[in-house]
Amino acid sequence: MQMYTPPFPSRLPKIGTTIFTRMSALAQEHGAVNLGQGFPDFECDPALLDAVDAAMRAGHNQYPPMAGVPALREAVAAKIEAVYGAKYDPGSEITITAGATQAILTAILCCVHPGDEVIVLEPCYDSYGPNIEMAGGRVVRVPLVPGTFRPDFEAIATALSSRTRAIIVNSPHNPSATIWRAADLQRLADLLRPTDVLLISDEVYEHMVFDGEVHASASAHPELAARAFVVSSFGKTFHVTGWKVGSVAAPAPLTAEFRKVHQFNVFTVNTPMQVALAAYLADPAPYLQLGAFYQRKRDLFRNGLASTRLRALPSEGSYFQCVDYAQVSELGEEAFCRWLTAEIGVAAIPLSVFYEAGFEQRIVRLCFAKRDDTLSLALERLARL
Ligand SMILES: Cc1ncc(COP(=O)(O)O)c(C=O)c1O
Repeated sequence: MQMYTPPFPSRLPKIGTTIFTRMSALAQEHGAVNLGQGFPDFECDPALLDAVDAAMRAGHNQYPPMAGVPALREAVAAKIEAVYGAKYDPGSEITITAGATQAILTAILCCVHPGDEVIVLEPCYDSYGPNIEMAGGRVVRVPLVPGTFRPDFEAIATALSSRTRAIIVNSPHNPSATIWRAADLQRLADLLRPTDVLLISDEVYEHMVFDGEVHASASAHPELAARAFVVSSFGKTFHVTGWKVGSVAAPAPLTAEFRKVHQFNVFTVNTPMQVALAAYLADPAPYLQLGAFYQRKRDLFRNGLASTRLRALPSEGSYFQCVDYAQVSELGEEAFCRWLTAEIGVAAIPLSVFYEAGFEQRIVRLCFAKRDDTLSLALERLARL
């Protein structure tokens, strides 16, 4: 019998292995400190691990309800109300997802029809574009202002059309580490008011905001909240990115459509983690202290960078720090990252990969969600530049 694997046209013909995978492999090959991919190299709170263990041993090992364990949905709603003053009904307006990645894909699949346009602000997280294309939508890319990475509301207004179904906003922002403030949300609300455009608000770094600023959540802006899917990630908030548990808060009519897709996408998210997270959320301290925890790391890292030839851009939120390397090298961003990994021993991510057309600014992204000794080792090496 002749074995035959039929070919078929790719749904995502332009997509190959991501830069994150490639840089992590290169970092390993060269024994480089990996400040490329965004995840902590330290453990989460042991109390959270104990809570998972207890949940498993208590028999929480079968399918939970489709929308998520009720206690976790209730805890999420209570947290949103406590932190942002917004009321969501856990029964009909909160859904537990397999991380923010699935939440964003599901939100897009449930509302974007073939031919619809979705506005994304570049540079942006790499899943948005392919997600929109998988739904048959057209990605409309609006650049953030080069240099400051602030939203350009005139450009967003120009990009809005009768075909625009949604806009995706991400604050605190990966990769630029800038944040939106309440006035930015107000500008967006003014723009969207006369339209039927939905908002997908990616707020996975919501608890990592620095220097006394507060996170401007779309949930706290009632007019925007009425048309928004607000996406959160427990992986980011509790240092457990591998768990892939997140949540979506959205008004009941949006949640109803979201759950139709969720039901036939993942159906449910693993039970013991949900039970553990529900118990762990009873104490608000871990997420309320997260900003101070990461601000200390950011400051340690930035102080060290000050004695290198890299120029640190502002880092207002998230666990990223962008640096301008124009004084160090004339290489393009990807070539610079390869060189930095192989020759200096520090892995970084080129900012250009967050742009569809690969815009070059001699800026790379570093992640400071690392142990202090990891950051010190990276700084020692970067001081050689
Ligand atoms: C902006 C942004 N959105 C979403 C995600 C995905 O989050 P999760 O790990 O919960 O799927 C990430 C992870 O890096 C991110 O940076």
